Amino acid sequence: MEKQGLLYEGKAKRLYNTEDANLLISEFKDDLTAGNAAKKGSEEGKGVLNCKISTQLFELLEKHGIKTHLVKTLDDNNQLVKKVDIIMIEVVVRNIATGSLTKRLGIKDGTVLPFSLVEFYYKEDALNDPILNDEHCIMMDLVKSESDLEELKRLGREINSILKKFFIERRLNLVDFKVEFGVDSEGNILLADEISPDSCRFWDMDTNEKLDKDLFRQDLGNVKVAYQEVLNRILK
Ligand code: TMP
Repeated sequence: MEKQGLLYEGKAKRLYNTEDANLLISEFKDDLTAGNAAKKGSEEGKGVLNCKISTQLFELLEKHGIKTHLVKTLDDNNQLVKKVDIIMIEVVVRNIATGSLTKRLGIKDGTVLPFSLVEFYYKEDALNDPILNDEHCIMMDLVKSESDLEELKRLGREINSILKKFFIERRLNLVDFKVEFGVDSEGNILLADEISPDSCRFWDMDTNEKLDKDLFRQDLGNVKVAYQEVLNRILK
């Protein structure tokens, strides 16, 4: 399958059309952004690591019955994926308080939450991805019905329980993550985009060391070393 025209370029990926109208090629870029691109950088090889990590995690989720857009990996940083209409809601699931949750609500950083918290954010850079409640989602026609919102919450929780267990076995705490979903030509809701240390927070269970994009966001160290460590643990 060959790349044809560029369909879309995001902060971390490019999507290309292919000769099949239902399939796209997703190319993982080396670029890193934070604070809605207020901070920019690039790390050679980051795209390859995220492509490998995301492929492994999508295959794991597929094995557990989660439908995803992934068809197959084409090479080190390109995946063949099903074309979907992206739902403009970022689904964030949190196990431990940090990041915007601690800032917004004053919860102490590192507090283990009493249950896995699911939040919705509007996928709109120009507005800095504001938080949404269910009624905002319906009012803005971001989903067709309340049952779709319930399905997004269910999928978020299910993905969390699969990944959390998988990472505990690898001595990593899955602190929180963001996932995106899309609707395919048959109306199925599929997991889309990526799951990588760009979109998850991982804390080493023994040292509390951060192994995710917070290293870049907070100028704490080299992301590539950390992302490679996450991949090594996934593969072990
Ligand atoms: P937050 O604490 O900044 O709200 O982020 C929560 C989690 O979601 C964290 O793992 C980073 C991820 N995330 C993204 O990947 N992209 C986004 O646009 C947002 C808002 C969060």
